[in-house]
Amino acid sequence: MRNIIGQAVSGNDFFERPQIVRKIRRALRAFNWVYLSAPRRVGKTSIMNHLQENPEADQQYVYAITQSIDSVDGFYKELAKQVIDSPAFRTMLKVTDTLKKVASALLQRINLKVSVPFLDLSLDKGEPINFQTDFEKMLEELDLDGGKLIIMVDEFTETIDNIMLKHGKQEARRFLQLFRELTHNRKLTSKVQFLLTGSICLQPLVKKLEVSDLVNQLQYIDVPSLTEDEACSLFRQLIGPEDIQIDEDTIRFTLQKIDWLMPFHVQLLVQEIIDVFESSGNPIDQAKAEQAYQQIFHQRNKIYFEQYYERLKKRLEPGAEYQFVHDVLNRATEESPLEKSVVHDLAVKYGITDNYKATVESLEYEGYLHQTADGTAYRFNSSILKNWWKKYVC
Ligand SMILES: Nc1ncnc2c1ncn2[C@@H]1O[C@H](COP(=O)(O)OP(=O)(O)OP(=O)(O)O)[C@@H](O)[C@H]1O
Ligand SMILES: [Mg+2]
Repeated sequence: MRNIIGQAVSGNDFFERPQIVRKIRRALRAFNWVYLSAPRRVGKTSIMNHLQENPEADQQYVYAITQSIDSVDGFYKELAKQVIDSPAFRTMLKVTDTLKKVASALLQRINLKVSVPFLDLSLDKGEPINFQTDFEKMLEELDLDGGKLIIMVDEFTETIDNIMLKHGKQEARRFLQLFRELTHNRKLTSKVQFLLTGSICLQPLVKKLEVSDLVNQLQYIDVPSLTEDEACSLFRQLIGPEDIQIDEDTIRFTLQKIDWLMPFHVQLLVQEIIDVFESSGNPIDQAKAEQAYQQIFHQRNKIYFEQYYERLKKRLEPGAEYQFVHDVLNRATEESPLEKSVVHDLAVKYGITDNYKATVESLEYEGYLHQTADGTAYRFNSSILKNWWKKYVC
């Protein structure tokens, strides 16, 4: 297994996460449309890659990433492109005239250089096209011989956010309304499903748009962190090719320092363990492991964390909300947990008492904070994020 830091993995580089994969498959088998909910860098895209590479019988996957799309038309255009370009589509045995007509017209306009044997570009009469209705029509006409097409949309929530920022709340509501209609189309229920994800939290976003009801048909599935045993096993697989001597206790000691066991954080740790090994040799004892942990915060790894911060900056309203979040996270780096009453006082200070709860909820979702067991205070989720914030942002 290679240590691929920062990029989604596939094939043999994917560390098995059977629990979450089973959960998604079960939901899909029950004909649900699924929203895979998890903060940045938790492994959503890697899980989607894994599903696509390992479909169950009668399932075919299509993957689309809509991160930079900021219009309703653009969204359905991209989905049409990916569906037409998929093996599921190109190998269909039965093709109706309506499908030929709709898909040919779509293909004319999506800038896709593929040849699909049964599509005839001369059928296009040049009429104006509505990507959303034509895409839906195309799905209705698909004949998958009893099989199911699962359309995975990565960064779905980014698209909602982009549409809201560019065209306003009303257009973002229209986007969700149209999507909801698609989920209610009875002609699709037995053959098409969606698996959506995004690293911006969907719930606060739809709350902001006052349309929570438009997404309540989705089944939400969280991506949990790894257990300590899983993280240990990933650690061992990643150091596998190196001749590193490190005992189980030392691995667990360092993993406990990370405390939020996401594959990405284990990858960073392993990178630094290898670095320490190269400069000081075997065995890797606790002192060397501690050194490796500290090296994670080296300038050269800044690039990995800046993406978290960039995302945060983009999503927050400049001014009061931004300053509030800064203050909250600065205080959360302190030793003792950040009391909820202090968070409330900060909301008063910045004049955002009406909305601050949704803001804090987003920080929880995005992997910065979690509530203490008694529910009275917040802590940083990950010691890595906390130390990085302390060193570079505070
Ligand atoms: N199952 C896994 N096995 C090995 N590495 C993984 C696994 N899941 C995630 N990673 C690693 O974690 C990091 C993030 O993975 P990925 O891009 O899949 O997450 P993501 O949730 O889609 O992130 P983003 O929010 O940035 O899109 C990458 O460095 C990837 O190599
Ligand atoms: Mg991703």
